[in-house]
Amino acid sequence: MSNYHIKHLEEYYQVYRKSIREPENFWEEVAEEHFMWRKKWDNVLSWDFNKPEVKWFEGAKLNITENCIDRHLSTRGDKTAILFEPNDSSEPAEHITYKQLHKRVNKFANVLKDKGIQKGDRVCIYLPMIPELAISVLACARIGAIHSVVFAGFSSTALATRINDSDCKMVIASDGSFRGSKTIDLKGIVDDALEDCPGVNSVLVAKRIHSDIPMKEGRDLWLQPLLDAASDDCKAEIMDAEDPLFILYTSGSTGKPKGMVHTTGGYMVYTAYTFKNVFQYTENDVYWCTADIGWITGHSYIVYGPLANGATSVMFEGVPSYPDFGRFWEIVEKHKVTQFYTAPTAIRALAKEGVGHLEKYDLSSLKVLGTVGEPINEEAWHWYDDNVGKKKAPIVDTWWQTETGGIMITPIPFVTPTKPTYATLPFIGIQPALMDENGKEIKGNQVDGRLCIKFPWPSMARTIWGNHQRYKETYFSAFKDKYFTGDGALRDEVGYYRITGRVDDVIIVSGHNLGTAPIEDAINEHPAVAESAIVGFPHDIKGNALYGYVILKDVGETRDHNNLRKEINQLITEQIGPIAKLDKIQFTSGLPKTRSGKIMRRILRKIACKETSNLGDTSTLLNPEVVQDIMDNAL
Ligand code: WT7
Repeated sequence: MSNYHIKHLEEYYQVYRKSIREPENFWEEVAEEHFMWRKKWDNVLSWDFNKPEVKWFEGAKLNITENCIDRHLSTRGDKTAILFEPNDSSEPAEHITYKQLHKRVNKFANVLKDKGIQKGDRVCIYLPMIPELAISVLACARIGAIHSVVFAGFSSTALATRINDSDCKMVIASDGSFRGSKTIDLKGIVDDALEDCPGVNSVLVAKRIHSDIPMKEGRDLWLQPLLDAASDDCKAEIMDAEDPLFILYTSGSTGKPKGMVHTTGGYMVYTAYTFKNVFQYTENDVYWCTADIGWITGHSYIVYGPLANGATSVMFEGVPSYPDFGRFWEIVEKHKVTQFYTAPTAIRALAKEGVGHLEKYDLSSLKVLGTVGEPINEEAWHWYDDNVGKKKAPIVDTWWQTETGGIMITPIPFVTPTKPTYATLPFIGIQPALMDENGKEIKGNQVDGRLCIKFPWPSMARTIWGNHQRYKETYFSAFKDKYFTGDGALRDEVGYYRITGRVDDVIIVSGHNLGTAPIEDAINEHPAVAESAIVGFPHDIKGNALYGYVILKDVGETRDHNNLRKEINQLITEQIGPIAKLDKIQFTSGLPKTRSGKIMRRILRKIACKETSNLGDTSTLLNPEVVQDIMDNAL
């Protein structure tokens, strides 16, 4: 018998030890007992971190939507699968049962097939948080098409880059979106993007804001009439366990986004198993993750993980501040939410508004609180614990990444004693290692280092779309035979982990992973800019904000600096999206560089963080004199 549901700390340790000693037996038992396979695997795991190559459940056949939908029909057909809560609180919520979801996914899948989408084709989904988003994701999976969801806050340039990188044939979009009091012209963004995407031959458009938008003849089609005409019966395509399920882009330290490829069998097993345990999900719970499905959190813990467990998963279209800062709590009360999973940046934004908004609502349904996306500071942790959970709902601080597919280091609620700011213990099957700068593993407790994972887990990304070499270089080259996460971490006296933050050129702003290189590339497109460098500095709500140092081409020319700042942020908005805008822009005559020409970000970071008392040794710089100048003019 596998231990699908862990309930005590001794059980955690016992299962953990088994998952490490006999990983293949362990995962085989979980996979065998809790999922529906069309054919069992020939081999549980084969791996080589040198190549790198990882295969789980090789030879097995399945369709993930049969696991997420069909197999629940006889036992939970009338249970709500997706509970859609619209942007506007006066619009009624929509309860989509498993039976209805089955029909809607099948219809959508038939529309995709009818428009020429086949197994293995890539489909880009650019939708707001409306039911069609979850349904189109599942419809792709139903027919074996590879979905590539692009968060609908990305600009047209960013969208085009992602569409082209994976040669998407089709885009699924909407006329527009509601976000708080704003409406956004999403279709206009798609139209702009598609000017540069010759490979896209059709666009399916869902109606959400009912705006009058241009539809391109021969390319754009309204979705609803096609769905109405389609059959609600669509046989699931039988997939290999290692067939790609989706691509999801994440930023990296170089300009181009990385299309992380997740495959079917292992991803399903791991997201389902983590969902069950990390949220201690039981049958009548109402689970709500506030993330957008455009991020991995939404893929794994709004769609696949919850549905694989037959759960009710809330999908919220709006924002925490509309119509006021009580909206989250209103929804918790209205739907009697039992598990609530959000980001530290949201907690800080809500905390700033005071407890008045909370006190109006009954939050007694809450059993488990989760956080993800960035380190949670002690103050936010306590605010969440005291005011939202009333000290009765344990906080699960879940550390993981787009690349890991599922939660990696986390407490199990009611099982693992929590500790503020600590993600605590590795989840079942996860073998973390802390590494020193010479590439040696640091053993023992009360140590810190670079966080690596020593052994494969079922939901790890298998490659970067179209660039396996980059996958190898980014994740498997810094430390031999180990997956390198890019994060630093410390391990305390009892073996609990605390994630200290990125050790590479990625900055997490409001929980969004931003690479410095693409932002610098965007700034450098400005005709007046010669060079730039971005660093992060602490921000009360966003966690980090961006500080840009910019060298102008013609210093003799006097230009209005505030106008330039606006133009630079406008360029960033166009190239990436508003999430990457800079809070501070300092114009400077030079950037501190090493003798090999590399920008010394460490120094720039310290200046931006106002930690200039100890800048370290600057004497080896190519241009030590610029440091004082930058300090004197710091913002
Ligand atoms: C990076 C991954 C995984 C879903 C959302 C982000 C940071 C994530 C935590 C946490 C401290 C965290 C890490 C990680 N991060 N969760 N609980 N504590 N840091 O996915 O965009 O791929 O970002 O987010 O730095 O590497 P992502």
